[in-house]
Amino acid sequence: MKNFRFKNPVEIRFGKGTIADLGELLGDETKIFLLYGGGSIKKNGVYEQVKHGLTGKNIVEFGGIEANPQYETCMKAVKEVQASSATFVLSVGGGSVLDAAKFIAAAAVLENKDPWGIVTGDVSISTALPLGAVMTLPATGSEMNSNSVISRKEWGEKRGWSSDHVLPRFSILDPETTFSLPERQAANGVVDSFVHVMEQYLTYPVNSPIQDRFAEAILLTLIEEGPKVLTDPGNYDVRANIFWASTMALNRLIGVGVVQDWATHGIGHELTALYGIDHARTLAVTLPGVMQFKRQQKREKLIQYAERVWNITQGDGDVKIDEAIAKTVLFFGKMGVPTTLGDYQLGGEAAQAAAENIRKKGWKLGEHRDIGPEEVEQILLLRA
Ligand code: NZQ
Ligand code: ZN
Repeated sequence: MKNFRFKNPVEIRFGKGTIADLGELLGDETKIFLLYGGGSIKKNGVYEQVKHGLTGKNIVEFGGIEANPQYETCMKAVKEVQASSATFVLSVGGGSVLDAAKFIAAAAVLENKDPWGIVTGDVSISTALPLGAVMTLPATGSEMNSNSVISRKEWGEKRGWSSDHVLPRFSILDPETTFSLPERQAANGVVDSFVHVMEQYLTYPVNSPIQDRFAEAILLTLIEEGPKVLTDPGNYDVRANIFWASTMALNRLIGVGVVQDWATHGIGHELTALYGIDHARTLAVTLPGVMQFKRQQKREKLIQYAERVWNITQGDGDVKIDEAIAKTVLFFGKMGVPTTLGDYQLGGEAAQAAAENIRKKGWKLGEHRDIGPEEVEQILLLRA
């Protein structure tokens, strides 16, 4: 196992009725910048619960954060935060709203520097406004991590950044808020969470049985519970199990001391930036390609994944790997999430375009940093 530091200070309030804890969690904070998305919270009762929880506070509202939050919209919010002198940012919605909140909290107190530099990594931040979240979509894990992904449509850019200064002070996860999710978003969330685990698990062994078995537990839970969200969407326990699996998938726990990949996300972000495909859907296309393309380097972990997650016991290593990849594709299909570029009427040109974007950034992806533009193209051609 590699050396690591582990700290996760995010307070979680999980369960029915926990939005009522807002007042207690906010304590002395009185001027709250309430950030939300395109209006789902006004249709499913979450907005009313939040307003009730904020009784007695001074609230400045900002709605309209898009899925794949846009830099320009975030900058409008930054100006409003500064004008209102709000002291706390509260995100109410999915990962996009929370990722935007993280950027806004950092940019609002940035002095004399280009805020886009926060996203590119050219500007390192030393502080941010405190923030908290009422999370309504299990997918990103943003509720318990320091990551944020911001897009800039006119530049064809979508980039992730991370800073401990934007770890939420608290996150409220009430599974009942997820009953109103459209089937597609619920399915996307299961797939995104699954791939988060794979990015931290499917590399090479470093003798880390705790992290491996935690990872496998999350994968197995998503495989068991995920399809139920489509067949039994009103089941609270299913919603609760998926929510917690999703949070645990990307809150640092399974990633400490192990080698991480993240090539699937790097490539997937380009497909979203180029074609607007939902985040999770880009991952469902890309991951099987990465598994296939990297099958030699990932061999030991692929066989472990086949045996322990899919219970594949027959055949030699190659047979097990083939079957594990096929089972993964089938699982995404069972969630109603397409797995080829062709499903989006795309082919070789998309593979080239994504590769070109990676070339422009000079990126080398994967746990060995050996997936450059040529390899990206080959991986995506496997999914054409
Ligand atoms: O905007 P509203 O009206 O709220 O509707 C949203 C949006 O249309 C809707 N929704 C959310 N909760 C709902 C709901 N509709 C009904 N009932 C509810 N309870 O769902 C749609 C999608 O929401 P969004 O927030 O975009 O989805 P998600 O949580 O999947 O976030 C995706 C974004 O997160 C980034 C992705 O790249 C993408 O930009 N990621 C962030 C990560 C992180 N911070 O750690 C890691 C991930 O890998 C990912 O890259
Ligand atoms: Zn993701």
